[in-house]
Amino acid sequence: MSVEVGQKRITVPGIRARKGGRPIVALTAYNALTARFVDRHADIILVGDSVAMVEHGLPSTLGATMEMMILHGQAVVRSARRALVVVDMPFGSYEESPGNAFRNASRILAETGCSAVKLEGGRHMADTIAFLATRGVPVMAHVGLTPQAVMALGGFRTQGRERGDWDRLREDARSVAEAGAFSVVLEGLVEPLADEITQQIAVPTIGIGASARCDGQILVLEDMLGLNDRVPRFVRTFGDLATGMDAAVSAYAEAVRERRFPGEANVYQPRED
Ligand code: KIV
Repeated sequence: MSVEVGQKRITVPGIRARKGGRPIVALTAYNALTARFVDRHADIILVGDSVAMVEHGLPSTLGATMEMMILHGQAVVRSARRALVVVDMPFGSYEESPGNAFRNASRILAETGCSAVKLEGGRHMADTIAFLATRGVPVMAHVGLTPQAVMALGGFRTQGRERGDWDRLREDARSVAEAGAFSVVLEGLVEPLADEITQQIAVPTIGIGASARCDGQILVLEDMLGLNDRVPRFVRTFGDLATGMDAAVSAYAEAVRERRFPGEANVYQPRED
């Protein structure tokens, strides 16, 4: 469904109020061009730290920096009119202390104009989330498979396959919600656990590789457009832009080599006086 021109920007309380209601549509975007498309259909645009991998070719999200997140955040906020824009806090910018997290989160809000930040981590981040939330920084939490902890997790592994881990994972989601997060991303969690958490916590859950019964869903835009050749197994592609892009670049190269470009319509001639 497309949205009407002139609608107001979706707010943090607006998203919070969608608990158990109309599913929340979330997608990533990292630049003004793609944000314009996403903004027409999504409730939330996340400027994810996945930008480090997708746009900068880095091997993980660990290489994302404050400068990177702010630059991409500014571009997206400039272009998106309606969706709530959330910017990821990069690895190393919030874990040290609540004060350190506040300094960096407030910088992201002030310099990008986004509406909220996202940070990864469960129970151990609850104090920091409470510190930020009570000081006017809306926080989206992220639990389950947290890519910034890829080294500690031993890879991008689905969480909760062993029932013995469920109490810890439930506690992670419960504590970040109670600390004041306005929504919680559940990534790479087994379906029944994601369902249980969705029923138990008071704020919307946004699933990625979790369950269709989460309060909303998020994907990396380039993954679902079929632009990335290596995507997690849970990603469903809704387009095949790689094929279209390859065909267009190849047609251009052929036209240049065969001296068919620029064509008559693409060149300028001096005026005949
Ligand atoms: O960085 C990112 O893109 C994310 C989402 C996919 C949840 O954290």
